[in-house]
Amino acid sequence: MIAMKAVRFHSYGGPEVLVVEDMQRPEAAEGEVLIAVHAVGVNPVDWKVRGGYLTGMLNHHLPLIPGWDVSGVVAAIGGGVTDFKVGDAVYSLLDISRNGAYAEYVTARVGGIATKPASVDHVTAAGVPIAALTAWQSLFDFAKLSAGQTVLIHAAAGGVGHFAVQLARWKGAKVIGTASANNAEFVRQLGADEVIDYNTTRFEDAVSDVDVVLDTMGGDTQQRSWKVLKKGGILIGTLGIQSPEGAAKYGVRGEAIFVAPNADELTQIAVLIDSGELKTVVSTVLPLDEAARAHELSQTGHVRGKIVLKV
Ligand SMILES: NC(=O)c1ccc[n+]([C@@H]2O[C@H](COP(=O)([O-])OP(=O)(O)OC[C@H]3O[C@@H](n4cnc5c(N)ncnc54)[C@H](OP(=O)(O)O)[C@@H]3O)[C@@H](O)[C@H]2O)c1
Repeated sequence: MIAMKAVRFHSYGGPEVLVVEDMQRPEAAEGEVLIAVHAVGVNPVDWKVRGGYLTGMLNHHLPLIPGWDVSGVVAAIGGGVTDFKVGDAVYSLLDISRNGAYAEYVTARVGGIATKPASVDHVTAAGVPIAALTAWQSLFDFAKLSAGQTVLIHAAAGGVGHFAVQLARWKGAKVIGTASANNAEFVRQLGADEVIDYNTTRFEDAVSDVDVVLDTMGGDTQQRSWKVLKKGGILIGTLGIQSPEGAAKYGVRGEAIFVAPNADELTQIAVLIDSGELKTVVSTVLPLDEAARAHELSQTGHVRGKIVLKV
């Protein structure tokens, strides 16, 4: 057996269920590559899966290795793989139904893999896939955001939000973000035209007639968001649509997103990163052994940009 180190959990629970273990290195099957993991991005979905909050949606077998945002180097290729070769630097949103990348190696289907942006290191690249693809797919694939439109981005300082602000701005939209006062200047520097401090201002008192809302908060924030849309406008919810009656009441639409691996979009995102149009803000880098600490930080709900584990 060729061994590797991984962080996994054998039962659902708090951060303490994450354990560092030696296990068998996986092998690339037909249509897959084996990636030597250099860095893995931490996302809220990691601790939601670990905590057992998504068992109704995802049919995982335990033990499970979390972490579906990877940047690394191709270490082996499976049968039929022609797009990548050993030694290529790649990044990917992995299939969330399988083992993730809190490990020295992970296997990945080639359909979701793209060449890593050359201008940034693996730590930075690992912060990109889930959050940037969620922002891209929400704003461009679902909402068809166009120049001159106005978009309200909730949690604009977070993983998804900080990419969404920059992508909307790049598209030529007017960008309004919500954040605490602590992050107001940060969000403005990302390109937001206006930042609303959610602790002192009810956003629905300050904003109206927007074309698109990106709702990463759900609940009460979603309920209060319907009325800020202009008729025919659209709200994209990363936590689903919990108050569809609001959409009907205001003559607007609500769509739930579940981010999907997409190599073409990751390639376009890499081009924006390499041209300097899109920045990834990694606020915390921790070693793989400190995955539990990374989860505790993510669970505060107040991370700026991204947390990344270095392998
Ligand atoms: N459906 C999907 O495919 C999908 C994909 C990606 C993410 N998601 C979900 O979307 C959510 C956001 O993901 P993420 O990675 O962006 O999370 P994140 O990075 O953990 O978001 C943290 C940010 O939320 C902000 N925040 C907290 N409370 C807020 C409030 N009341 N109003 C405005 N901002 C607030 C914080 O800013 P302050 O510190 O300034 O408060 C912080 O910067 C998560 O629940 C995640 O699971 C779903």
